[in-house]
Order: sequence, then C-alpha cells, then structure tokens
Amino acid sequence: MKVAVIGSGTMGSGIAQVAATAGCEVKIYDTNQDALSKSKAALENTLSKLVEKGKIDANEKSRITQNISYAHALGDLSHSDLVIEAIVENADIKRKLFSEIENYVSPETILASNTSSLSIASIAASCEKPERVIGIHFFNPAPLMQLVEIIPAVQTSEAVLKFITQTIIDWKKVVAVVKDTPGFIVNRVARPFYSESLRIYEEGVADFATIDWSLKTIGGFRMGPFELMDFIGNDVNYAVTESVFTAFYFDPRFKPSFTQKRLTEAGFMGKKSGRGYYDYSTELPKPTE
Ligand code: NAI
Repeated sequence: MKVAVIGSGTMGSGIAQVAATAGCEVKIYDTNQDALSKSKAALENTLSKLVEKGKIDANEKSRITQNISYAHALGDLSHSDLVIEAIVENADIKRKLFSEIENYVSPETILASNTSSLSIASIAASCEKPERVIGIHFFNPAPLMQLVEIIPAVQTSEAVLKFITQTIIDWKKVVAVVKDTPGFIVNRVARPFYSESLRIYEEGVADFATIDWSLKTIGGFRMGPFELMDFIGNDVNYAVTESVFTAFYFDPRFKPSFTQKRLTEAGFMGKKSGRGYYDYSTELPKPTE
C-alpha cells in the first residue's frame, strides 16, 4: 500500500515509521523543509538505537528506511492509497489542506486525520468526497503506543471504516472505534489530568516537580502531567484543551489554563523547544518532599 503522511513533526514521523515497518511505501511531506530534514535524522537515530538494542537487525533497518521517501510538494503524493494528515491542530488549516489534497489524489484515495480533538465531520465537509474521510488517532510515540482510536464521521462510508480498521490491525495496533466527539475517548478523559494539575500549581499547592512526583509515585502514572505536557508539546496540548473546551460549549470542566497559554505564547513548547514547564538545558528540579 502507498501511504502519504502530511506533517513530519512528532506524530507524522512516528506514523511514517509504523507504516513503513508494516511494509507500506511511505512518502512524508511538510511545508517546512527543516522539519523534513529533522524527521529524516530522527528516524535514522531511532532505527540505529533499535539495532543497537538488538530489537531489529541491519537488514530490517534498511528495509524500513528504504520504504520512506520525502516529498517536496503535495503533487508528489498523487499515487497514494491512503493519506494521513498530522499537521498543526487547527480546524481551518486542516480543512484547507483536505480540500487541496483532493485535487492531487485519485477519487479512491482515503483521507485520514490524526487530529486529537477536532470534528472529523467538519474536516470531511471540506471535501468533495466526504465519505472517504476518517479520523485515525495515533498516540505519542506512535511506534510504541498500542492504541489507535478510529473515528468515522457521519459522512464516512462503511467500506472506508472497515478497510482502515483492518489496516491499522495489520499495522499491529489495537483499535478502538469511537464516535466523532471532542477529544474522542483518551483526550477527553485526559483533560482533567492536565487542567487539575495546572490548577493545583496555580493555587500554589505544589510545584511542577512535586505534582509530577506525586502522580508517579502515589498515583502510579508512568509520567507526571507536566512531564507529559512537555513531551506532547505545550502548543499541541493547549490547542487540544482549547478545542475541547470550545466544542463542549465552554463547559468549565475543560477550561484551559493561563499558565499553559503563556508558555505556549513564549515558545516554551516543552522538550521539542528545550524548555516548557522544565528547562531541559539544566538539571531538572527535585520534588519537595
Ligand atoms: P508538530 O508540531 O510536531 O508537527 C506538525 C508539523 O506539521 C510541522 O512539522 C509543521 O511544519 C507541519 N505543517 C504545519 N502546517 C502544514 C501544512 N499546511 N502542510 C504540511 N505540513 C504542515 O505536531 P504533532 O505533535 O506532530 O501533532 C500533529 C497532529 O497530531 C495534531 O493534530 C495533533 O493534535 C495530533 N496529535 C499529537 C500528539 C502529540 O502527543 N504531540 C498525539 C496525538 C495526536
């Protein structure tokens, strides 16, 4: 199968690796040339580490690498059977891209969005053939996380849902088919994990390191909320919270935080920018015990 991935950031790069590992011919496209180069370097680095750890051999590494190529224009994606979009979490930008892609691909090409929270129905409505549009929501890091939420819109055809469900199972993932509602399952359940932690911090109850430590040590979470937001990217995480809050008619349960908004505005996106709740250029702070 020929797969195109649009957006070569955190998620697009991981999704490309998953599809290429499953034997698909993958093309990645990004409007930012720098992002494409970083994606290529990151893949090389990830695969080399897997070889070092003995998880794959050198042949497997070169098979996966050869399955991935880098496109410089949307037109280069014209032979794709499946396009997966993983660009910025902004409904207008995604809709514009989906209406544009249709000009390049065949009428049978399936168009999927990796959105964390946005309406698939609204993205599909920007297309002339909305029945071919579906949500495929991978989690971060895509090669490691088992779960994939599949979100058919009201317009999505049964055939597309069936094909995508089987494809994702073939890609060795566990599928949950979920309704097209804001944040689907995981990102809806996760909102209070982030927002309540931010409120605890804003009320001066504890600092980031102490909240993270408590949730890991006492709560049994693998990562604390601030570590996780830094890992996801504050820009992405904030956009998801804002979108879920708006989509639920401003339900205060999902209210975004000014602390996170200001960090995003300052460019403190987390690990990917070197600074978020934590400064990754220095030793990380210890919890107050
Ligand atoms: P990112 O910021 O790491 O990467 C986005 C990439 O898209 C950038 O390289 C940017 O240059 C590119 N881009 C932006 N507009 C474009 C356009 N019009 N055409 C082509 N490329 C364009 O973002 P990330 O984290 O990979 O998120 C992408 C999508 O995946 C978002 O919808 C996000 O909500 C979703 N997602 C993110 C997760 C995370 O943990 N970061 C987890 C699951 C889903």
